[in-house]
Amino acid sequence: MILLCTLLEGLSLAVAETGAEPTPANFWMPEGASKQSSFIDLSFYVINWINYFFFGVVTLALVWFVLKYRQRGKKVVFSEGPVHNTTLEVTWTIIPTLLLVGIFFMGFIGYLDVRTPPKEAYQINVTAQQWAWEFEYPNGAKSTSELVIPAGKPVQLVMRSKDVLHSLYIPDFRMKQDVVPGRYTYMWFESDAENDPDDESDFYWLFCTEYCGDSHWNMNVHVRVFPEDRFEDWTKEQARWLDVIPEQDLYYMAGPKLYKRCATCHTIDGSDGSGPSWGPRNGLPGIWERVAKGEGDVSGGTRFIAGKNKLSDYIGPGKLYETPEAYIRESIYNPGALLVAGYGNQMPTFQGQLNDRGIDAVIGMMKNLDEFNPDGSFKDQAKIEEAQSRIAEAKAAAIEASSPPAAASTPQAPASAPQAPADASQADAGTPQAPVDATQAPADTPQAPAEAATE
Ligand code: CUA
Repeated sequence: MILLCTLLEGLSLAVAETGAEPTPANFWMPEGASKQSSFIDLSFYVINWINYFFFGVVTLALVWFVLKYRQRGKKVVFSEGPVHNTTLEVTWTIIPTLLLVGIFFMGFIGYLDVRTPPKEAYQINVTAQQWAWEFEYPNGAKSTSELVIPAGKPVQLVMRSKDVLHSLYIPDFRMKQDVVPGRYTYMWFESDAENDPDDESDFYWLFCTEYCGDSHWNMNVHVRVFPEDRFEDWTKEQARWLDVIPEQDLYYMAGPKLYKRCATCHTIDGSDGSGPSWGPRNGLPGIWERVAKGEGDVSGGTRFIAGKNKLSDYIGPGKLYETPEAYIRESIYNPGALLVAGYGNQMPTFQGQLNDRGIDAVIGMMKNLDEFNPDGSFKDQAKIEEAQSRIAEAKAAAIEASSPPAAASTPQAPASAPQAPADASQADAGTPQAPVDATQAPADTPQAPAEAATE
């Protein structure tokens, strides 16, 4: 028995660590895109084939007995059946025991592998909240619309929840782990199944698989496996994409990307959502106009004063919020302060997630809502392209100017310096592809909200 266990263990470990090629999808399983998936699938198939086999054996025996012992004529014969058969009993005890021990070891070894991240694993912090994921990288880069990971490197997700139970599930990696408020959970995986960084439609799905409220369905994002150099570039761009967009371009270059996060609850065409629409609603104008004019009722919140039910009681010179911008800013950072009538205190704070420039972008978008499609994308594609080329040129010029005397002025300078050759070449290649900085970010906006709408 011990010999058998040792043998099984050796075998399983060998399989667990071969990290075979990605396996194609079949009837039972989606594509297997992580190194762990082949062994996890093997455990599944072994159990499955044992089931097929015994289903066959039992069914054949059943049919055979039915035929053999069927009633023939009216005469019933009683006979003494066998009461004991040692050989048979030993056999049907030992064989299933061995099978179960084997299954146990496959599961145990797979479990140990999944629960033991390698020490050198690349760590990404994951925060789940109603109803979005936030992925934070070691360099401070943050992403909510997709999880990008480096190919061929073990990756560890350290996960926590800000509110309720969520569960992070990547079917193609065969990985699933609950995300629990008040504690950290983790998972790790490694994937060689690279996606094309330039093709947004090439991705794996990541689901929330614990029902977590109204928009649980919307916690579906993409996982993309990038070659290591592209991954490095991506995290750098991600860390400072907002900073390189000129102020006047923020609302349409950054707004749509930021709005994706708001879109879970706030529509911009006036239709219903878990939060008040930014568009015209209940006979009131769009959000900017109604805040600026103080139109609409409020009904609660930490700064609510009984008897003062109109927004205009709070916004204006000498009042709680001197300007409409101040009110919107507080509503984003401290959403429970003043609640729009008819809506509860549901929105999470964006303190620490959205800086001043992000707030500017969002407010700018609110001020110019008619320039956006209902899915949050910007209507004027030509204007985006013009800004993209302007930003790319400015960047190329900045790199040229700063390259001889190392790292000048800005805090980002050190980050951009090592990257310089790659950026410059991309910028030269022409704007359409140049996924440099900001250009990369808004480039994905026209598609993404459309997907959200169809899910
Ligand atoms: Cu988060 Cu379901």
